[in-house]
Amino acid sequence: NSQTATVTVAANGASYTINRNIYGHFAEHLGHCIYGGFYVGDSSKTIPNTDGVRNDIIDALKKLKVPNLRWPGGCFADTYHWKDGIGPKDKRPSMVNKWWGGVTEDNSFGTNEFLNMCTLLGASPYLSANIGSGTVQEMSDWVQYVNFDGKSPMSDLRKANGKEKPWKVNIWGIGNEAWGCGGNMRPEYYANEYRKYATFISDWENTGGLMRIASGASDADYAWTETLMKNIPLNMLGGVAMHHYSVIEWNKKGPSTNFDEQQYFTIMKQAWLMDELVTKHSAVMDKYDPEKKVALVVDEWGGWYDVEPGTNPGFLYQQNTMRDAMIAGITLNIFNNHADRVRMANLAQAINVLQAVILTDKEKMILTPTYHVMEMYNVHQDAKLLPLKVQSPDYVFGSDKLQAVSASASIDSTGKTHVSLVNIDSKNAQTITVTMDGGKYSSISGRILTSDKLQNYNSFEEPNKIKPAVFKGASLKSNVITVQLPAFSVVVLELK
Ligand code: AHR
Repeated sequence: NSQTATVTVAANGASYTINRNIYGHFAEHLGHCIYGGFYVGDSSKTIPNTDGVRNDIIDALKKLKVPNLRWPGGCFADTYHWKDGIGPKDKRPSMVNKWWGGVTEDNSFGTNEFLNMCTLLGASPYLSANIGSGTVQEMSDWVQYVNFDGKSPMSDLRKANGKEKPWKVNIWGIGNEAWGCGGNMRPEYYANEYRKYATFISDWENTGGLMRIASGASDADYAWTETLMKNIPLNMLGGVAMHHYSVIEWNKKGPSTNFDEQQYFTIMKQAWLMDELVTKHSAVMDKYDPEKKVALVVDEWGGWYDVEPGTNPGFLYQQNTMRDAMIAGITLNIFNNHADRVRMANLAQAINVLQAVILTDKEKMILTPTYHVMEMYNVHQDAKLLPLKVQSPDYVFGSDKLQAVSASASIDSTGKTHVSLVNIDSKNAQTITVTMDGGKYSSISGRILTSDKLQNYNSFEEPNKIKPAVFKGASLKSNVITVQLPAFSVVVLELK
């Protein structure tokens, strides 16, 4: 079946810049994200690596144009003492990873390893500082260790550890989920803690200015955002975070691959909820910050399902299907369309954890459907948003319904226009008339990501079952494009 939809793009209406940081990732010390994921250790002979970081992962993530990477957590961050993770590896103390499986963390991957890895990836590091079980001194020492160029106790220590010049880390998170695993704080209390910690993050010689991010609300906790905005001076606040996972029920999440339509629909509803969440958190922020100086940072988002059978429940390892491609497509369109306020986001998580872009099994590595969506969409990074209106049929399930078609558009610095379209309907294709109001183009091309079943995924046996293909379903006549979008598919068009 085919339905019809219309999208009207203000082709000359270039507005806010879509901050590349919206396309950020997240790497926690959790399951096999770091160990057995990014990091195979200096001594791996079978897996080619650079200082212990897998070369195949570096190459794949470079293609993704990862703008920033958040580390070391997550919940782990508020248990992490960075000084345990520097210096000679055989002298580093170990700790227990209390939140994630109770495994022993040997601290072999620490600050130098992470920051050098970011350099290899060309990504800005986003360090999440421990305020739950750490101290102000510890955090301020961390900033001095990574950022100070002159002579100081911490820069001397860095030099002694083989790094002469500082890395210059601009993005700092002050705690994580302070309302929960980060210390079960009340918002007023956390706002005071934030003010104290933020005072001792100095901008050393970091001429670009540091971005300090407050630990944000869970989902629709608008009161949390309001309390932070009301109680923290704007000049101390670069961003306010927010976390939203697409989950069916926390104690009944359902399988990552073998889901039914009810489960698919519920996850799509959760993914679409992001639009309401960022709209309402932005409205709260507008009250205190009408000039939109403070960014809304969605530093954890993605689908969360039951772990793969037989794997450690504390490791959050799940497969990734076309359903996840739909989550990614809708969510990134939402972020693009809210570029005025949403200026950073981090998909949870990069490798082997939750909605990962990469899965590994010893020397094997595969790219997930989510990877491909992120790669197709990276044309929007730092481009100017083109406002648009969508008229879409509903994707109906039982007595409930959702908007079937999602879209966003941008124009980049070389004058190329990109339109990304998603159809989440599980059965109906869409014939979409995209009117590029005021635009003039001579050529169109595109790529599509789809498959014959929503439940399909890439496996180690069949790593390329789902991958982008040339899209032939678009035709351009003057400034009107007619697009045939199959059920559950993502398309990115390029107009010149
Ligand atoms: O991403 C997994 C966990 O989800 C993070 O550690 C925590 O911040 C969130 O609850």
